Amino acid sequence: MVRTNIAVLGAQWGDEGKGKIVDMLTPHFSTVARYQGGHNAGHTVYVDGRKFVLHLIPSGILHPGVTCIIGNGVVVDPEALFKEVDELARLGTSVDGRLLVSEKAHVILPYHRELDVLSEARRGERKIGTTSRGIGPAYEDKVGRRGIRVCDLLGDREALATEVRENVSARNRIIKDSTLDWRPVFDQLVGHGERMKPWVADVSLVLHQTMAAGKSVMFEGAQATLLDIDHGTYPFVTSSNASVGGICTGLGVAPKAIGGVLGVAKAYTTRVGEGPLPTELTGELADRLRETGQEYGSSTGRPRRCGWYDAVVVRYSARINGLDAIALTKLDVLDGLPEVRICTGYQTPWGQVTEFPADLRVLAAAEPIYETLPGWTRPTKGATRIDELPAEARRYVARLEEVSGVACGLISTGSDRNETIITPGAAVERWTSA
Ligand code: IMP
Repeated sequence: MVRTNIAVLGAQWGDEGKGKIVDMLTPHFSTVARYQGGHNAGHTVYVDGRKFVLHLIPSGILHPGVTCIIGNGVVVDPEALFKEVDELARLGTSVDGRLLVSEKAHVILPYHRELDVLSEARRGERKIGTTSRGIGPAYEDKVGRRGIRVCDLLGDREALATEVRENVSARNRIIKDSTLDWRPVFDQLVGHGERMKPWVADVSLVLHQTMAAGKSVMFEGAQATLLDIDHGTYPFVTSSNASVGGICTGLGVAPKAIGGVLGVAKAYTTRVGEGPLPTELTGELADRLRETGQEYGSSTGRPRRCGWYDAVVVRYSARINGLDAIALTKLDVLDGLPEVRICTGYQTPWGQVTEFPADLRVLAAAEPIYETLPGWTRPTKGATRIDELPAEARRYVARLEEVSGVACGLISTGSDRNETIITPGAAVERWTSA
């Protein structure tokens, strides 16, 4: 068991393969805690050839004895949570005594999804391409100070009735000619509270006690740095802080509790939803990456947009999050390509750019500046040691580390837990060898 608490988070636009990385590192931790997002996430894990997709519950739940925490920074759709708990039970995994939900987490109300879809329709051409899970509207209510928290479902009924009435009338003002009755919503929420009760806890206190007892915690990010509400490609982002800062606010832990940060990055780039993607490819090459990498959204099934590795993005992520190492995933997807490219900067009408710009007009007009390297014919698929990789693949990884400014502590060469290289001497080996 390691003593360092580490964060595992996305360094690009999400879907980097965090599920597998969290899953394989979990045996080294007593607790896995999620700090933001909701069931918009989709973490796919393969165990003994069986596929699990978890949306809300940390994938650490697949390991018996590990405690999984849903923090106050997460927005919880109780129905989605129950569905996941039931599905896990059906597959033989019980969450009893191992799942904790923050009493301060905000609840996604039944009509938040409807508001999400409506808001997208109203944006027309400027739509975000959300997952339609009601995530944005739930966070809007939280920041608008009319949200309903998990503890409210268990507290004074009169007070809950007042909150629900207020919230529903705010909704009715948004949706023209709508007269939704607050009472059925209230009844439903009371029922949800009853079922959630055994899991509800002061997770900040639990984490504090866990760490004080010398046990280690993994902080699991959802979405990714470029989808962060503050540091991502705003407004084409999710509505929470997916980058490292979200850990402190989303779980109630101090910055010094975070002993290391692992950024998960694909050996190329993908994105779902709208917004600029400077290295985006079209045509045959994009199709090939999409099919080989099975690049379809695990929550929505949408085809992901694919492009070359963008070192400007990962360098930026390294700065925002203080990355100690990269977990490089899906290297095997590039097997067999005649050449591979790395974007090291952008050419824009306003000059050359090497730092990630805030202004989306700059990003939309950015022409990637590429370095082209030879591809490899011998497969990397399934490699477990760095010296098993073809020389060209090693060179690609080494160059990618140089231009990103961070070492790869782990390289994933397939979807199974075993198809992984842990780089000798790098941070991941140190974290996992205590
Ligand atoms: P929302 O989080 O549903 O509001 O969607 C906002 C943006 O984040 C959209 O571009 C989504 O496609 C993207 N997004 C949300 N969750 C994920 C995820 O887990 N992986 C990748 N993209 C995501």
